[in-house]
Amino acid sequence: MPYDTLLTELDNGIYIITINRPDKLNALNKTVIEELSAALDEIYQNPEIKTAIITGAGPKAFVAGADISEFISLEQDAGKALAQKGQELVFSKIENAPKPIIAAVNGFALGGGCELAMACHFRLASENAKFGQPEVNLGLIPGYGGTQRLTQLIGKGKAMELMMTGQMIGAEEAKQLGLVNHVTGTDTLLQQSKAILATIMSKAPLAIEKIISLTNSAARGEDNGLQKEVEAFGELFGTRDVKEGVTAFLEKRKARFTGQ
Ligand code: COA
Repeated sequence: MPYDTLLTELDNGIYIITINRPDKLNALNKTVIEELSAALDEIYQNPEIKTAIITGAGPKAFVAGADISEFISLEQDAGKALAQKGQELVFSKIENAPKPIIAAVNGFALGGGCELAMACHFRLASENAKFGQPEVNLGLIPGYGGTQRLTQLIGKGKAMELMMTGQMIGAEEAKQLGLVNHVTGTDTLLQQSKAILATIMSKAPLAIEKIISLTNSAARGEDNGLQKEVEAFGELFGTRDVKEGVTAFLEKRKARFTGQ
């Protein structure tokens, strides 16, 4: 589907969404949020899309945050609605997607940009990437899930420090903290992201879907995670893919999963 602020491409089952406002460092304005929501609906609904990558256009930024120019006229209720709508339309929709969505962070990932990367199932970053939650410089706090997801990913002490100082960190430090899984060259970021997704796409999609939802449940600290795992483990035995996976192992051949 054509969008004004996104470039999209389907490459062998991988839907690549590029946020495309490079002259504004890909800041998330109202249109970007609405279009990301529509692109996420495509991911949920289109069976040809198996996995997705979110990245930013241009050499400088993944996403430099929510579009600050839209903040000037906001009062309390509108501020609350902005955060609520963004979380529902985009950030929670990414986190809860039944198919893997990863962030390929190619530059500044600040504020809503860092939050967008954190809503994804995991992150790769190019060596020039920079992460931060600088909202405090505006008298604000993260509003797209940053207080929750940064704490889940890097722990309370470091999350507090980053949010309270508004300080930026580079890709290597982000990796040491557990915010990103891999640091790549600037030219190899997409290629390495696609290679990981190709491995994931060779596995059973229904098992991948359960891994996403159960791991999210653990990260959110839900107290019935172990029981949910028991139920999901049992349910998967009702799928053809488990029969195929187990048979293929016993026959010493590669499994051919169909998602059934
Ligand atoms: N919202 C709106 N516009 C933004 C933006 C944002 N979050 N981040 C960058 N831009 C715009 C700039 O206003 C500038 O537009 P202009 O050319 O029309 O003046 C353009 O993008 C380029 O940014 P610029 O600041 O000139 O680039 P830089 O290399 O000097 O600095 C940053 C890069 C990322 C350090 C700086 O842009 C910045 O601090 N951005 C805001 C980050 C932030 O606070 N995000 C959280 C928002 S809640």
